[in-house]
Amino acid sequence: MELEHKHILLGVTGGIAAYKAVELLRLLKKAGAQVTVIMTESAKKFVGLTTFEVLSENPVLSDLYFDTDASVKHIELAQKADLAVIAPATANTIAKLAAGLADNALTTTLLAVTCPVMVCPSMNTDMYQNIRVQRNLDILEKDGWHILDPDSGVLASKPRGPGDCRNPGSSWTGWRPC
Ligand SMILES: Cc1cc2nc3c(=O)[nH]c(=O)nc-3n(C[C@H](O)[C@H](O)[C@H](O)COP(=O)(O)O)c2cc1C
Repeated sequence: MELEHKHILLGVTGGIAAYKAVELLRLLKKAGAQVTVIMTESAKKFVGLTTFEVLSENPVLSDLYFDTDASVKHIELAQKADLAVIAPATANTIAKLAAGLADNALTTTLLAVTCPVMVCPSMNTDMYQNIRVQRNLDILEKDGWHILDPDSGVLASKPRGPGDCRNPGSSWTGWRPC
């Protein structure tokens, strides 16, 4: 996909790989995309909202009910999105999305998008291989979303296994942005 001037929604959830989303954002911006970041509450425990706001040059959507201009931000963002990427996608958010829940800014916005959606799971190997997580990923894939499978490597929880970001010596779990 040609990214110049495209509207990308970048969903960041509360996994150790949240810091990788900063680099992904930088690359999307470098490619000319207009990026709006949506963070879960847990994501903000890993990386500060300000970092995403400054690098995206856009306000971050995190609180569904905090709206300064009375617009319905999550619907507006969903309607103009050309692509939504969830990176990293936690087991929790994957489960919510598979169930069609809408209990925060990210899950609510993603229920309203009609553009392609890419899900980048990122977690400990045992979590990733858990039958419930796999079942939820299958549901999302069968429903038409794209799943970017993680690679194997050194995990934050130490042993090697699927879920790693592929970067040598890294200590988080999931995809890699480049
Ligand atoms: C240090 C730490 C690291 C975590 N890393 C991950 C992770 O890589 N993947 C994951 O699915 N959950 C991880 N979790 C658990 C999530 O933060 C937790 O399930 C949370 O509810 C996710 O919320 P969210 O999906 O709304 O962002 C981690 C928790 C802690 C305390």
